[in-house]
Amino acid sequence: MDELRTKYLDQIGKVADEAALEDLRLAALGKKGEISLKMRELGQMAPDVRQGAGAALNRLKDEIDAALRAKKSALGDAALDARLKDEWLDVTLPGRPRRQGTIHPVSQVTEEVTAIFADMGFAVAEGPQIESDWFNFDALNIAPEHPARQEHDTFFMARAEGDARPPHVLRTHTSPVQIRAMQGQGAPIRVIAPGRVYRMDMDQTHTPMFHQVEGLAIDRDISMANLKWTLEEFCRAFFEVPSVELRFRASHFPFTEPSAEVDIRCSWAGGVLKIGEGDSWLEILGSGMVHPKVLAAAGVDPAQWQGFAFGMGIDRIAMLKYGIPDLRAFFESDLRWLRHYGFAALDQPSLAAGLSR
Ligand code: DAH
Repeated sequence: MDELRTKYLDQIGKVADEAALEDLRLAALGKKGEISLKMRELGQMAPDVRQGAGAALNRLKDEIDAALRAKKSALGDAALDARLKDEWLDVTLPGRPRRQGTIHPVSQVTEEVTAIFADMGFAVAEGPQIESDWFNFDALNIAPEHPARQEHDTFFMARAEGDARPPHVLRTHTSPVQIRAMQGQGAPIRVIAPGRVYRMDMDQTHTPMFHQVEGLAIDRDISMANLKWTLEEFCRAFFEVPSVELRFRASHFPFTEPSAEVDIRCSWAGGVLKIGEGDSWLEILGSGMVHPKVLAAAGVDPAQWQGFAFGMGIDRIAMLKYGIPDLRAFFESDLRWLRHYGFAALDQPSLAAGLSR
Protein backbone atom coordinates (compact mmCIF):
# COMPACT_ATOMS: atom_id res chain seq x y z
CA MET A 1 0.00 0.00 0.00
CA ASP A 2 2.83 2.39 0.74
CA GLU A 3 4.20 1.64 -2.68
CA LEU A 4 0.84 2.40 -4.30
CA ARG A 5 0.51 5.62 -2.33
CA THR A 6 3.98 6.85 -3.31
CA LYS A 7 3.48 5.83 -6.92
CA TYR A 8 0.15 7.61 -7.43
CA LEU A 9 0.83 10.72 -5.36
CA ASP A 10 4.08 11.10 -7.25
CA GLN A 11 2.42 10.74 -10.65
CA ILE A 12 -0.47 13.04 -9.73
CA GLY A 13 2.09 15.67 -8.77
CA LYS A 14 3.72 15.44 -12.16
CA VAL A 15 0.65 15.34 -14.41
CA ALA A 16 0.38 18.38 -16.72
CA ASP A 17 -3.12 18.25 -18.17
CA GLU A 18 -6.62 17.14 -17.35
CA ALA A 19 -6.69 14.25 -19.86
CA ALA A 20 -3.58 12.63 -18.36
CA LEU A 21 -5.06 13.13 -14.89
CA GLU A 22 -8.22 11.28 -15.94
CA ASP A 23 -6.05 8.37 -17.21
CA LEU A 24 -4.36 8.26 -13.82
CA ARG A 25 -7.70 8.23 -12.03
CA LEU A 26 -8.85 5.25 -14.09
CA ALA A 27 -5.54 3.45 -13.49
CA ALA A 28 -5.97 3.83 -9.72
CA LEU A 29 -9.66 4.01 -8.92
CA GLY A 30 -11.42 2.96 -12.12
CA LYS A 31 -13.31 -0.35 -12.29
CA LYS A 32 -10.13 -2.17 -13.20
CA GLY A 33 -7.84 0.23 -11.38
CA GLU A 34 -5.05 -1.02 -9.18
CA ILE A 35 -6.64 0.10 -5.91
CA SER A 36 -10.09 -1.18 -6.90
CA LEU A 37 -8.59 -4.61 -7.66
CA LYS A 38 -6.90 -4.63 -4.28
CA MET A 39 -10.29 -3.94 -2.70
CA ARG A 40 -11.66 -6.99 -4.42
CA GLU A 41 -8.89 -9.15 -2.98
CA LEU A 42 -10.20 -8.34 0.51
CA GLY A 43 -12.87 -11.02 0.07
CA GLN A 44 -10.34 -13.79 0.01
CA MET A 45 -8.59 -12.68 3.23
CA ALA A 46 -9.11 -14.10 6.67
CA PRO A 47 -11.60 -11.96 8.62
CA ASP A 48 -9.12 -10.62 11.19
CA VAL A 49 -6.62 -9.56 8.49
CA ARG A 50 -9.38 -8.20 6.32
CA GLN A 51 -10.54 -5.69 8.90
CA GLY A 52 -7.21 -3.91 9.22
CA ALA A 53 -6.43 -4.12 5.51
CA GLY A 54 -9.89 -2.90 4.53
CA ALA A 55 -9.65 0.23 6.66
CA ALA A 56 -6.16 1.02 5.42
CA LEU A 57 -7.20 0.49 1.81
CA ASN A 58 -10.16 2.83 2.24
CA ARG A 59 -7.91 5.51 3.67
CA LEU A 60 -5.57 5.06 0.71
CA LYS A 61 -8.47 5.31 -1.72
CA ASP A 62 -9.75 8.52 -0.05
CA GLU A 63 -6.29 10.00 -0.03
CA ILE A 64 -5.70 9.33 -3.75
CA ASP A 65 -9.18 10.56 -4.58
CA ALA A 66 -8.60 13.83 -2.69
CA ALA A 67 -5.23 14.32 -4.41
CA LEU A 68 -6.87 13.76 -7.81
CA ARG A 69 -9.59 16.32 -7.08
CA ALA A 70 -7.15 18.91 -5.80
CA LYS A 71 -4.99 18.49 -8.86
CA LYS A 72 -7.99 18.69 -11.15
CA SER A 73 -9.08 22.02 -9.74
CA ALA A 74 -5.51 23.34 -9.88
CA LEU A 75 -5.24 22.34 -13.53
CA GLY A 76 -8.60 24.00 -14.24
CA ASP A 77 -7.47 27.26 -12.65
CA ALA A 78 -4.23 27.17 -14.59
CA ALA A 79 -6.10 26.55 -17.86
CA LEU A 80 -8.40 29.48 -17.16
CA ASP A 81 -5.44 31.71 -16.32
CA ALA A 82 -3.76 30.70 -19.57
CA ARG A 83 -6.91 31.43 -21.56
CA LEU A 84 -7.41 34.79 -19.92
CA LYS A 85 -3.82 35.69 -20.71
CA ASP A 86 -4.18 34.44 -24.26
CA GLU A 87 -7.47 36.17 -24.99
CA TRP A 88 -6.53 39.45 -23.37
CA LEU A 89 -7.67 42.47 -25.33
CA ASP A 90 -7.06 46.16 -24.69
CA VAL A 91 -10.51 47.65 -25.14
CA THR A 92 -9.13 51.13 -24.45
CA LEU A 93 -7.09 51.18 -27.68
CA PRO A 94 -8.33 53.81 -30.15
CA GLY A 95 -10.23 52.54 -33.20
CA ARG A 96 -8.47 52.26 -36.53
CA PRO A 97 -10.81 53.63 -39.20
CA ARG A 98 -10.29 51.79 -42.48
CA ARG A 99 -11.50 54.79 -44.50
CA GLN A 100 -13.58 52.56 -46.73
CA GLY A 101 -17.07 53.93 -46.25
CA THR A 102 -18.11 57.21 -44.71
CA ILE A 103 -21.21 58.58 -43.00
CA HIS A 104 -23.60 60.20 -45.49
CA PRO A 105 -24.16 63.93 -44.92
CA VAL A 106 -27.89 63.30 -44.41
CA SER A 107 -27.14 60.82 -41.61
CA GLN A 108 -24.55 63.16 -40.15
CA VAL A 109 -26.93 66.13 -40.14
CA THR A 110 -29.76 64.00 -38.70
CA GLU A 111 -27.45 63.05 -35.84
CA GLU A 112 -26.41 66.66 -35.34
CA VAL A 113 -30.02 67.88 -35.26
CA THR A 114 -30.96 65.09 -32.85
CA ALA A 115 -28.05 65.91 -30.54
CA ILE A 116 -29.01 69.60 -30.38
CA PHE A 117 -32.71 69.00 -29.70
CA ALA A 118 -31.99 66.18 -27.26
CA ASP A 119 -29.99 68.74 -25.28
CA MET A 120 -33.12 70.91 -25.14
CA GLY A 121 -35.25 68.02 -23.88
CA PHE A 122 -36.79 66.80 -27.14
CA ALA A 123 -37.21 63.05 -27.61
CA VAL A 124 -37.18 61.38 -31.04
CA ALA A 125 -40.55 60.16 -32.36
CA GLU A 126 -41.16 58.01 -35.41
CA GLY A 127 -43.98 57.14 -37.77
CA PRO A 128 -44.48 54.98 -40.87
CA GLN A 129 -43.42 56.14 -44.31
CA ILE A 130 -46.54 54.57 -45.82
CA GLU A 131 -49.17 56.63 -44.06
CA SER A 132 -52.94 56.74 -44.07
CA ASP A 133 -54.70 59.61 -45.76
CA TRP A 134 -56.14 60.60 -42.39
CA PHE A 135 -52.78 61.01 -40.61
CA ASN A 136 -51.08 62.69 -43.57
CA PHE A 137 -53.91 65.15 -44.31
CA ASP A 138 -57.24 65.13 -42.41
CA ALA A 139 -55.83 65.09 -38.89
CA LEU A 140 -53.59 67.99 -39.90
CA ASN A 141 -56.64 70.06 -40.88
CA ILE A 142 -56.10 69.48 -44.60
CA ALA A 143 -59.64 68.65 -45.79
CA PRO A 144 -60.20 66.41 -48.85
CA GLU A 145 -60.69 69.36 -51.23
CA HIS A 146 -57.94 71.51 -49.72
CA PRO A 147 -55.51 72.81 -52.37
CA ALA A 148 -52.56 71.77 -50.21
CA ARG A 149 -53.27 68.20 -51.26
CA GLN A 150 -52.40 69.09 -54.84
CA GLU A 151 -49.38 71.11 -53.79
CA HIS A 152 -47.96 68.08 -52.08
CA ASP A 153 -47.66 66.04 -55.33
CA THR A 154 -48.61 62.94 -53.44
CA PHE A 155 -47.65 59.35 -54.30
CA PHE A 156 -50.70 57.15 -53.72
CA MET A 157 -50.60 53.45 -52.90
CA ALA A 158 -52.88 51.09 -54.84
CA ARG A 159 -56.20 49.91 -53.40
CA ALA A 160 -57.90 46.65 -54.31
CA GLU A 161 -60.53 47.16 -56.99
CA GLY A 162 -63.86 48.10 -55.45
CA ASP A 163 -62.28 49.29 -52.20
CA ALA A 164 -63.72 52.78 -51.79
CA ARG A 165 -61.55 53.86 -48.86
CA PRO A 166 -59.01 56.61 -49.58
CA PRO A 167 -55.69 55.05 -50.57
CA HIS A 168 -52.66 55.20 -48.29
CA VAL A 169 -49.94 57.60 -49.34
CA LEU A 170 -46.19 57.85 -49.11
CA ARG A 171 -46.11 60.51 -46.42
CA THR A 172 -45.53 63.93 -47.97
CA HIS A 173 -44.15 65.44 -44.77
CA THR A 174 -43.16 64.43 -41.22
CA SER A 175 -46.13 66.34 -39.75
CA PRO A 176 -48.29 63.17 -39.32
CA VAL A 177 -45.79 62.07 -36.66
CA GLN A 178 -47.10 65.00 -34.57
CA ILE A 179 -50.50 63.29 -34.50
CA ARG A 180 -49.08 59.85 -33.73
CA ALA A 181 -46.86 61.18 -30.96
CA MET A 182 -49.69 63.09 -29.29
CA GLN A 183 -52.06 60.12 -29.61
CA GLY A 184 -49.39 57.93 -28.06
CA GLN A 185 -48.29 60.03 -25.11
CA GLY A 186 -50.67 62.97 -24.83
CA ALA A 187 -49.57 66.32 -23.43
CA PRO A 188 -47.22 67.75 -22.31
CA ILE A 189 -44.90 66.59 -25.04
CA ARG A 190 -41.62 67.63 -26.66
CA VAL A 191 -40.49 65.62 -29.67
CA ILE A 192 -38.68 65.87 -32.96
CA ALA A 193 -39.36 63.47 -35.82
CA PRO A 194 -36.65 63.14 -38.45
CA GLY A 195 -37.34 60.92 -41.45
CA ARG A 196 -37.95 60.31 -45.12
CA VAL A 197 -40.76 62.00 -47.02
CA TYR A 198 -41.92 61.68 -50.63
CA ARG A 199 -43.26 63.99 -53.33
CA MET A 200 -43.61 63.55 -57.06
CA ASP A 201 -41.05 66.15 -58.05
CA MET A 202 -37.60 66.05 -59.64
CA ASP A 203 -35.20 68.83 -60.59
CA GLN A 204 -32.00 70.40 -59.27
CA THR A 205 -33.60 71.29 -55.96
CA HIS A 206 -36.22 68.52 -55.68
CA THR A 207 -35.97 64.73 -55.43
CA PRO A 208 -38.93 62.31 -55.10
CA MET A 209 -37.60 61.26 -51.69
CA PHE A 210 -36.05 63.71 -49.26
CA HIS A 211 -35.73 64.25 -45.52
CA GLN A 212 -37.49 66.45 -43.03
CA VAL A 213 -37.39 66.94 -39.32
CA GLU A 214 -40.57 67.86 -37.50
CA GLY A 215 -40.59 69.58 -34.12
CA LEU A 216 -43.45 69.68 -31.61
CA ALA A 217 -43.69 71.20 -28.14
CA ILE A 218 -47.02 71.20 -26.32
CA ASP A 219 -47.59 72.37 -22.76
CA ARG A 220 -49.93 74.68 -20.87
CA ASP A 221 -48.36 78.02 -21.76
CA ILE A 222 -46.03 77.61 -24.72
CA SER A 223 -45.95 80.64 -27.03
CA MET A 224 -44.37 81.92 -30.23
CA ALA A 225 -41.61 83.38 -28.03
CA ASN A 226 -40.61 79.85 -27.01
CA LEU A 227 -40.62 78.85 -30.68
CA LYS A 228 -38.36 81.76 -31.60
CA TRP A 229 -35.86 81.05 -28.82
CA THR A 230 -35.78 77.33 -29.60
CA LEU A 231 -35.12 77.91 -33.29
CA GLU A 232 -32.44 80.53 -32.61
CA GLU A 233 -30.67 78.21 -30.20
CA PHE A 234 -30.91 75.43 -32.72
CA CYS A 235 -29.50 77.50 -35.60
CA ARG A 236 -26.62 78.85 -33.54
CA ALA A 237 -25.64 75.34 -32.46
CA PHE A 238 -26.23 73.74 -35.85
CA PHE A 239 -24.36 76.28 -37.98
CA GLU A 240 -21.67 76.50 -35.30
CA VAL A 241 -21.60 80.30 -35.31
CA PRO A 242 -21.61 82.64 -32.28
CA SER A 243 -24.91 84.31 -33.22
CA VAL A 244 -27.69 84.07 -35.79
CA GLU A 245 -30.56 86.30 -36.73
CA LEU A 246 -33.93 84.88 -37.72
CA ARG A 247 -36.78 86.62 -39.53
CA PHE A 248 -40.32 85.38 -39.01
CA ARG A 249 -42.51 85.99 -42.06
CA ALA A 250 -46.29 85.57 -41.74
CA SER A 251 -47.40 82.58 -43.78
CA HIS A 252 -50.11 79.96 -43.95
CA PHE A 253 -50.20 76.28 -43.11
CA PRO A 254 -53.46 74.46 -42.43
CA PHE A 255 -52.04 72.86 -39.28
CA THR A 256 -50.79 76.02 -37.56
CA GLU A 257 -52.40 79.33 -36.53
CA PRO A 258 -50.63 81.70 -36.66
CA SER A 259 -48.05 80.38 -39.11
CA ALA A 260 -44.62 81.68 -39.96
CA GLU A 261 -41.88 80.90 -42.41
CA VAL A 262 -38.46 81.47 -40.94
CA ASP A 263 -35.48 83.00 -42.76
CA ILE A 264 -31.91 83.16 -41.53
CA ARG A 265 -29.54 86.09 -42.15
CA CYS A 266 -26.66 85.20 -44.44
CA SER A 267 -24.18 86.56 -46.92
CA TRP A 268 -23.08 85.28 -50.31
CA ALA A 269 -19.92 87.41 -50.51
CA GLY A 270 -17.45 85.89 -52.99
CA GLY A 271 -19.92 83.16 -53.83
CA VAL A 272 -19.47 81.60 -50.39
CA LEU A 273 -22.46 81.27 -48.09
CA LYS A 274 -21.93 82.62 -44.59
CA ILE A 275 -24.64 82.18 -41.97
CA GLY A 276 -25.19 84.86 -39.33
CA GLU A 277 -23.89 87.91 -41.24
CA GLY A 278 -24.63 89.86 -44.44
CA ASP A 279 -27.73 91.32 -46.08
CA SER A 280 -29.41 88.25 -47.56
CA TRP A 281 -32.08 85.99 -46.13
CA LEU A 282 -32.51 82.26 -46.67
CA GLU A 283 -35.73 80.45 -45.91
CA ILE A 284 -35.03 77.41 -43.73
CA LEU A 285 -38.32 76.19 -42.28
CA GLY A 286 -42.05 76.48 -41.71
CA SER A 287 -43.57 76.79 -38.26
CA GLY A 288 -46.39 78.09 -36.13
CA MET A 289 -48.70 77.50 -33.18
CA VAL A 290 -50.38 74.11 -33.51
CA HIS A 291 -53.98 74.57 -34.73
CA PRO A 292 -56.63 73.70 -32.10
CA LYS A 293 -58.24 71.30 -34.60
CA VAL A 294 -54.95 69.41 -34.90
CA LEU A 295 -54.69 69.06 -31.12
CA ALA A 296 -58.29 67.85 -30.98
CA ALA A 297 -57.74 65.33 -33.79
CA ALA A 298 -54.83 63.91 -31.81
CA GLY A 299 -56.91 63.64 -28.63
CA VAL A 300 -55.34 66.61 -26.82
CA ASP A 301 -57.75 69.16 -25.31
CA PRO A 302 -57.11 72.56 -26.97
CA ALA A 303 -58.75 74.34 -24.04
CA GLN A 304 -55.92 73.17 -21.80
CA TRP A 305 -52.91 72.74 -24.05
CA GLN A 306 -51.10 74.73 -26.70
CA GLY A 307 -47.72 74.77 -28.35
CA PHE A 308 -45.59 75.16 -31.43
CA ALA A 309 -44.54 72.99 -34.34
CA PHE A 310 -42.02 73.35 -37.12
CA GLY A 311 -40.86 71.43 -40.16
CA MET A 312 -37.44 71.73 -41.72
CA GLY A 313 -35.72 70.12 -44.71
CA ILE A 314 -32.73 68.10 -43.55
CA ASP A 315 -31.18 67.86 -47.02
CA ARG A 316 -31.53 71.60 -47.39
CA ILE A 317 -29.80 72.53 -44.14
CA ALA A 318 -27.12 69.90 -44.91
CA MET A 319 -26.45 71.63 -48.25
CA LEU A 320 -26.28 75.02 -46.54
CA LYS A 321 -23.96 73.92 -43.76
CA TYR A 322 -21.57 71.83 -45.83
CA GLY A 323 -21.66 73.81 -49.09
CA ILE A 324 -23.15 71.02 -51.19
CA PRO A 325 -24.50 72.54 -54.44
CA ASP A 326 -26.70 69.83 -55.97
CA LEU A 327 -29.40 67.97 -54.05
CA ARG A 328 -29.52 65.08 -56.51
CA ALA A 329 -25.94 64.03 -55.63
CA PHE A 330 -27.28 63.00 -52.21
CA PHE A 331 -29.02 60.04 -53.75
CA GLU A 332 -26.58 58.89 -56.44
CA SER A 333 -24.40 56.71 -54.19
CA ASP A 334 -21.25 57.99 -55.89
CA LEU A 335 -18.36 56.80 -53.70
CA ARG A 336 -16.09 59.67 -54.74
CA TRP A 337 -18.77 62.15 -53.72
CA LEU A 338 -19.28 60.33 -50.43
CA ARG A 339 -15.57 60.37 -49.65
CA HIS A 340 -15.45 64.08 -50.42
CA TYR A 341 -18.44 65.11 -48.31
CA GLY A 342 -18.74 62.11 -45.99
CA PHE A 343 -17.87 61.92 -42.32
CA ALA A 344 -15.68 59.47 -40.40
CA ALA A 345 -17.79 56.68 -38.98
CA LEU A 346 -16.26 56.99 -35.52
CA ASP A 347 -16.89 60.72 -35.05
CA GLN A 348 -20.27 60.83 -33.32
CA PRO A 349 -21.66 64.38 -33.33
CA SER A 350 -22.12 65.68 -29.81
CA LEU A 351 -22.52 69.14 -28.34
CA ALA A 352 -19.69 68.51 -25.89
CA ALA A 353 -17.14 67.16 -28.37
CA GLY A 354 -18.20 69.28 -31.36
CA LEU A 355 -20.84 68.60 -33.96
CA SER A 356 -18.72 68.44 -37.10
CA ARG A 357 -15.13 69.14 -35.84
N1 DAH B 1 -45.33 70.06 -43.18
C1 DAH B 1 -44.84 71.24 -43.82
C2 DAH B 1 -44.30 70.86 -45.20
O1 DAH B 1 -43.87 69.79 -45.39
C3 DAH B 1 -43.74 71.88 -43.04
C4 DAH B 1 -44.25 72.46 -41.77
C5 DAH B 1 -44.69 73.77 -41.72
C6 DAH B 1 -44.30 71.71 -40.63
C7 DAH B 1 -45.16 74.33 -40.55
C8 DAH B 1 -44.79 72.24 -39.44
C9 DAH B 1 -45.21 73.56 -39.42
O2 DAH B 1 -44.84 71.53 -38.31
O3 DAH B 1 -45.67 74.10 -38.25
O4 DAH B 1 -44.27 71.68 -46.07
